[in-house]
Parts: sequence; structure tokens; C-alpha cells
Amino acid sequence: MLAGKRILLVIGGGIAAYKSLDLIRRLRERGASVRVAMTNAAKQFVTPLSVASLSGDKVYDELFSLTDEAEMGHIELSRDADLVVVAPATANLLARMAQGLADDLASTLLLATDKRTLVAPAMNLRMWLHPATRRNVEQLQRDGILFVGPSDGAMACGEFGPGRMSEPLEIVAAVETALAGETLLPLPKGAMTSGSLSGRRVIVTSGPTHEPIDPVRYIANRSSGRQGHAIAAAAAEAGADVVLISGPVEIADPKGLTTVHVETAEQMLAAAEKALPADIFIAAAAVADWRVAEARSEKIKKSGPTPTVLSMIENPDILATISMRKAGRPGLVVGFAAETEKVIGHAQEKLARKGCDLIVANDVSPEKGVMGGTSNTVHLVTPRGVESWPEMSKSDVGRKLIERLATLLERQS
Ligand code: C5P
Repeated sequence: MLAGKRILLVIGGGIAAYKSLDLIRRLRERGASVRVAMTNAAKQFVTPLSVASLSGDKVYDELFSLTDEAEMGHIELSRDADLVVVAPATANLLARMAQGLADDLASTLLLATDKRTLVAPAMNLRMWLHPATRRNVEQLQRDGILFVGPSDGAMACGEFGPGRMSEPLEIVAAVETALAGETLLPLPKGAMTSGSLSGRRVIVTSGPTHEPIDPVRYIANRSSGRQGHAIAAAAAEAGADVVLISGPVEIADPKGLTTVHVETAEQMLAAAEKALPADIFIAAAAVADWRVAEARSEKIKKSGPTPTVLSMIENPDILATISMRKAGRPGLVVGFAAETEKVIGHAQEKLARKGCDLIVANDVSPEKGVMGGTSNTVHLVTPRGVESWPEMSKSDVGRKLIERLATLLERQS
């Protein structure tokens, strides 16, 4: 998908610059050519020699270089690319971009380009959360600059939080999306995403369901509710009025939203219908497909005859029921597809069968450790195509999904 594409990579001066070396490799592996400009500060972290060896080209670093200007002027350099990528984008570089400063080659290229620019911020979390950076990021978003990350994580400075540069493969995925002309790239986390769903109502189902056999025994599955709860929390963070309908889980109710606790699929459907109307409905629950036809009202005694057969009947499909509603269908209906094989194929089939707008597909083979785990690798499947995201925390999946849905919803109205 990147074959023949020309990327101008601007490396800023941060510790995350070491990841940019891998980014160059990953982009070139996919057939892109990469031309690199480095700030002076960047050269404190990685050497121009390593960058040049990996990019297979000279490194551009001087604004007033007679040789460079004779060979290729900085204006030409900034335009002779399909996409400009800034990684790492430091607080200082973002501030200079937001102000339109052109005091070195990197900032001049960023000001002179007529191509889309994708930035991958990386900085200490206090710097990322500082009102000055918030203002700069908001300004850059208004200017049409695309963002990937930052994500949460441990930092070189020993702190933990937002500010870590996205992993190279995540940036590659964002590059592909940006080059495909998509305008739906995830927004960065923080103040600028809050409010993107204000005035909207979101319903999320999460966790497993328990289908009773008798008052003490039930049929269940391994869902922890972590992904659904993270999505609900992200929607609340983005300013939505959220109703989370949760099956029995061991994790806490997220803050800032209403949680309705249910046990069975039938209760979950009733709670979902009661919570309507909504702008977005997200079915992240692992609903039991069947329930015991005649659950006993008394405990089945061991001393009695062994129940050799449990006769089962199908549960209502909550996602399909909400999605197929003639009146009061939410603007966006999102389902999940937990599969152990042919993940994307099954998701495409499910999208059509259940009539929803988007399916988040994930591989739940035991070796992936998704069920009950804290990270997830998902594919977004829509009638328009498939977008694969690299592995990330379930919180990051939640935030990115909500940002994406907020944009889709905005387009609808
Ligand atoms: O058919 P399958 O269970 O694989 O579909 C998964 C999707 O459908 C998930 O979004 C899940 O929440 C939803 N679902 C539902 N009600 C059911 C079964 C699945 O809402 N009874």
C-alpha cells in the first residue's frame, strides 16, 4: 500500500527519536521512500549517520546550505513528498508549528509544505497536559494537522501517563490511513477530545451474561468486560451521556456514567431497549447464544437423577434487534466479533447479517490472551473496507474507537 509513496520524515529532538529509526525501516519495507530532515536537538539522540544508512539518502538538517539549495531548495524538498510525518513531535516543535515559526530547516519545511502533515507527539506527560501544549495541539488540529498518539505508558523520565510516542507500526498504520485520503485519523488524547461527544447519548453492553441452570448454577463465558468498560469510560471522557449495561464482571463501574447491572441476555436486551434513544449503540458484551430452556427454580439435587441433557433455546440477538429497529435506530450501531479463525471474513459476514455500521473484530484464540487480558489487536470492518490497528491497551482501543465514532457521527449530521 505504501509502494512508490514518498515520505518526508522530520525527526524532532526527543528520546523517542530512536523509534524513528525503526519507523524508517518499516516504511521502506513497505515500499515507501523516506527522506529525512532532523532538528539540531534530534542529533543529540540519534546520529545523522544511522538515519542516512537506514533511509538510503542524505539527511537534511541545514536551512542555509548552499549545496542543498543548489541541489534541491527547501521549498521543493517540502513539496516533493506525498506526506510529511513528524516523529517524534516534541512540545517545542509543536509550539513552533502552531505559531508558524520557520527558524530552522525542519520548521521551515513544515511551514512551506502543501502536503498533509501527520505528527506523532512524544513528551513528558506534564508537558503534554500543560495548557500551552493543549492550546497548540488544538490550533494544529484546526489547521488540519493529523495526529497519531501519544499513548499511555512508562516514560524515559520514570513517570507514567500520556506522552509516549506511538509505536512505529502504529505510525505506519496512520501513514497508510492519511495517504488513503482518510480524514478519520484518531485525535490525540487529552482535553481536545473531551466534548467531542457532548450532547450525545451512548449505550454500551459489556461483559458476559450468565444463563441460569438452576438458582446456583449457570452457563457463562470468559469475558472480563474490560474492553466494553473501557469504551464506555472513553465515551464518558468525550462528554457523552453514557449508559453501560454490564453483565456480571469483577471490575469496578467506570466513573461519570450510569451502569445498569444485568445477568442474562434477556435482561440485557430489556435494559438496552429501556436506555434508548441513543446516538451510538455499542454491543461489546459476550452474550450467551443460548439459554437453558427450562431453568429450574429449585436447586437440582445431587441425590436426584443426573440431568444428562440440558435443553437449550436461542437467546435474542441484542445487536441485531437494536440494529434492525425501524423506529428509533441509533445513528451508529457497532458490534464486536470475537473469532478464533478467519477473523475478518467472519466479521464481514456478521456486519451484513446483523445490519450494523461497523464491526470491531478481534482474534480471541487462547494464545492471544485477549479474553480477560489488558491489550487487544482489532480490525475495524465497515462496508467500505477493513482497517487494522496494531496491538494496544484496551483503554487505547476504547479511546480510538470513540474518537472514530465521534467523527463518523459528525459526518452524518
Ligand atoms: O454472533 P456473535 O455472538 O458472534 O456476534 C457478536 C456480536 O453480537 C457482539 O457485538 C455481541 O455483543 C453481539 N451479540 C448480541 N446478542 C447476542 C449475541 C451477540 O448483542 N445474543
